[in-house]
Amino acid sequence: MNDKGIYTDFKEQMTYGEYLDLDKILSSQTRLSGHHDEMLFIIIHQVSELWMKLILHEITSAITAIQQGELQEAFKMLARVSRIQTQIIQAWDVLATMTPAEYMEFRDSLGRASGFQSYQNRQIEFALGYKQPHILKIYEKNPELAAELKESYEAPSIYDVAIGALAEAGFLINPALLTRDFTETYKGDQTVADAWLEVYRDVDKYWDLYQLAEKLVDIEDCHQQWRFRHMKTVERIIGYKIGTGGSSGVNYLKSVLDHRFFPELWDVRTKL
Ligand code: HEM
Repeated sequence: MNDKGIYTDFKEQMTYGEYLDLDKILSSQTRLSGHHDEMLFIIIHQVSELWMKLILHEITSAITAIQQGELQEAFKMLARVSRIQTQIIQAWDVLATMTPAEYMEFRDSLGRASGFQSYQNRQIEFALGYKQPHILKIYEKNPELAAELKESYEAPSIYDVAIGALAEAGFLINPALLTRDFTETYKGDQTVADAWLEVYRDVDKYWDLYQLAEKLVDIEDCHQQWRFRHMKTVERIIGYKIGTGGSSGVNYLKSVLDHRFFPELWDVRTKL
């Protein structure tokens, strides 16, 4: 300890950097082009992936909590998810400081690498119920990762367990939904629509389910805002060029915006 009362002798103690593995994290920004702006490009992706890691951590625990009927615990985690989402939405403002000319300086270095191959993004989509099998092929070269992805692909989504919670509360839910093949993207069901309508019509009686529904809407809303800001930032930086991942680029990103994760929770607003 020095004369200001601060610890400075760490021969026998763990430091901040050791605890956080900072050597590893801070030596993982390899600019392939050496171009100045590639640092921003790498860090913005890495920061987003770190936040995605926490989103997954929270959502998967929330799924278990809902399955166990512990809705209050789940609410806390889901509230955290939407706060994290606001961080990654804001991150687009930083990326938008990069001009098209700056990006063109190093875009070729990326080869075919694209956020399209972000497996954490796919795991988040799986957890939200959007299941696209063709995505899994990308990860075949890494069997451990492929197995992990397959597991999250086959698992029930947060909406599946929310529908389970409706059934648990006594709503008449189509039984086929409760044991359905969870590798299929959920398409909507009248019994679920009727149940949510009842919840929204009597929020005092169904306060927990109402809260659950609104937390899910928060998450879908933020996810769509993230997708929208991504699409507009891409338009701003590369216009209508095709993506490094091979898609049509902005038009592809626009088409993804049409997908709704929790359809009845949006439809119920019209019916109220
Ligand atoms: C200059 C910046 C960026 C450009 C030009 C860009 C461009 C694109 C394009 C064109 C696609 C469509 C797939 C393809 O053909 O490649 C895509 C997908 C994607 N990008 Fe970006 N992107 C940028 C930054 C980011 C950042 C910072 C993230 C954060 C992780 C990100 C995450 C994703 C994800 C998750 C997808 C898949 C979207 C989906 O399939 O729904 N991108 N990007």
